[in-house]
Amino acid sequence: MINIVEPVFSEEEKQALVQIIESGRITRGRWTQTFQESFADFVGSKACFTVCSGTVALFIGLKALGVGNGERVIVPAMSFMATVDAVYLAGGVPVVVDVDEYYTMDLNQLEDAIKRFSPKVVIPVHLYGQMCDMESIMELSNRYGFFVLEDAAQAHGASYKGKKAGSWGHLGAFSFYASKNVPMGEGGAITVNDEDLIREVRKWIDFGDHPAFNVRITEFQAAIGTLQLKKLEERNTKRRSNANFYKKHLKGLFDLPQEREGSFHVYHLFTLRHPERDSIVEFLKSKGVDARVYYPYLLHELRNSDHLPTPNADLFKREVFSIPVHPFLSEDDLKTVVDTLKEALAPAGEGKV
Ligand SMILES: Cc1ncc(COP(=O)(O)O)c(C=O)c1O
Repeated sequence: MINIVEPVFSEEEKQALVQIIESGRITRGRWTQTFQESFADFVGSKACFTVCSGTVALFIGLKALGVGNGERVIVPAMSFMATVDAVYLAGGVPVVVDVDEYYTMDLNQLEDAIKRFSPKVVIPVHLYGQMCDMESIMELSNRYGFFVLEDAAQAHGASYKGKKAGSWGHLGAFSFYASKNVPMGEGGAITVNDEDLIREVRKWIDFGDHPAFNVRITEFQAAIGTLQLKKLEERNTKRRSNANFYKKHLKGLFDLPQEREGSFHVYHLFTLRHPERDSIVEFLKSKGVDARVYYPYLLHELRNSDHLPTPNADLFKREVFSIPVHPFLSEDDLKTVVDTLKEALAPAGEGKV
């Protein structure tokens, strides 16, 4: 099977885990500190706080921005369910808007929704590894006075106009779940770009005079994250080269992912579209190529939330599927994926690369 994700660890990570066990310091130690500093540095944010998941990062981000009493929070129709669930868990009320051809928030609709609903927070999701047009979103934020919490769970190292995901908004939320471009197993982080917000985020992280959950990660996770982060740029480059291979060989056969001008896409997922999606996915799986649908639902359908019309997302939901693009694919794997996709469209025996 050519897997859709393939976390790879080396001797370095093994040794770090052994050292942590031998040291006896398995939580709240030097690795957690190091990870937070390196990640803030990498993203270009003022600070970074690790938490136990991306969902918790979004939840704490919303609480830190003052959500809790039915405030409106705008989210896009296409994302993992955590994006909308965090809004409900924090006590907000989501409003769902459509996505554009890049699978990120449609900015015309966003402005309509802002005028109608006066949101406290907007959560742009950098879906599949490509950033939203954050420049325009921050302009709207300045004009209309809402906070921006970037959902960068799929966008470690992605950038727009030279600035990385997680450094544009007031806050950024990351996930280090096993499949992510920086995997820890489980984990998350909040990047903070505003001095005043550091205090608000801390309230939800440090035990003190404010009720809070324990959201810490262990030293094991922080060590894995620190060592995986060092390899991120090289791995993102390989993801981009795999994506270019697919784009070259699948041109004209599928609706392929497009890159927004000024955007550095890190291809957390390579997502393409075809009207015969379901039979193609089934065929790929039967031939040992792992293909998945991200996502088979839209956020407003899933949780019955308020929404604007979503013609793009309605179509994309029926047609999108993702194929393996991870950095450990060999040239042969890439060719097999392309051949199998062509075979799925053509009669047997035709369509080799
Ligand atoms: C876009 C998006 N937001 C939020 C999350 C939630 O992260 P976690 O699974 O670490 O809670 C994920 C990933 O799982 C995600 O892909």
